[in-house]
Amino acid sequence: MKGIILAGGSGSRLGPLTRSTSKQLLPVFDKPMIYYPLSVLMLAGIRDIAIITTPRDRDAFIALLGDGSKFGVTLDYVTQDQPRGISEAFLLCANFIGDQPVTLILGDNLFYGHGLSGLVRESIAAPITGATVFSCSVSDPSRYGVATIDAEGRAIKIEEKPANPTSNLAITGLYIYDNTVVERARSLTPSARGELEITDLNRTYLEQGTLKVTPLGRGVAWMDTGTPDALLESSEFVRSLQRRQGLHIACLEEIAFRQGWISQDALAAAVAGLGASDYGRYLAEISNAGR
Ligand code: DAU
Repeated sequence: MKGIILAGGSGSRLGPLTRSTSKQLLPVFDKPMIYYPLSVLMLAGIRDIAIITTPRDRDAFIALLGDGSKFGVTLDYVTQDQPRGISEAFLLCANFIGDQPVTLILGDNLFYGHGLSGLVRESIAAPITGATVFSCSVSDPSRYGVATIDAEGRAIKIEEKPANPTSNLAITGLYIYDNTVVERARSLTPSARGELEITDLNRTYLEQGTLKVTPLGRGVAWMDTGTPDALLESSEFVRSLQRRQGLHIACLEEIAFRQGWISQDALAAAVAGLGASDYGRYLAEISNAGR
């Protein structure tokens, strides 16, 4: 299973914050936004990951994450010169994907909650045929891809940002595909807004009866962080949970250590490089305890 994080785009709804920086490098409380989607892939056990960035921001992502070895994963960097749509990810990463299935996560989506990793792990455990998307109830479905399901929970319709949504089930930015995804992406044509739409790609599976819509359930929080309000709310969410529980969300070295992907020595080396930050202190406690 390959993983892709889509972290390009113009971030125009966050201007001027994004005039000289990538949206996905902006802070969500105490860490860069991309840590959160990367943590979702890592918790699902996905270790071979491509990060799609703009040409402008590529070096900044490399400075932050490197080749991934400090997190026990392998990171490849691919650039997208214009935001031509989410589905372009599969064209840009065709060689990287090779003959494997692939999980795509949007770089500005934050997922957190009970059972999420298990749900994703289950979805990628069996041989993958078709596509799985994850839905979440929202109060403002017109902002998202929207799924309408029948009494048996089967998807009967999906629409991108419908003016009059027929359900409140948003399709979140986490998608699992079989290897036919690259061919399907090649057959898409740009939408009225000039993008290769992820919803059009998903519709090719829907029409063949191979699109699975899995509800995330009430225990999982899903936020997209693409506007100033959403960004602040996400930061507040992470801050509240971390303060209350004393556990950090999306602490990548911790996840790698607990997965057995990096040694205690590597963890101690990471701590040494993190200075006096709270993140570093938190990791130091784990490193000192050795568990
Ligand atoms: O957040 C979930 C929603 O994401 C889905 O419900 C929608 O179906 C899907 O179209 C998408 O909607 P958005 O309007 O939020 O997509 P946005 O254009 O903001 O792009 C999402 C992320 O992908 C963002 O971090 C930027 C990045 N991106 C986007 C495009 C179009 C790229 O890196 N390249 C692109 O070409």
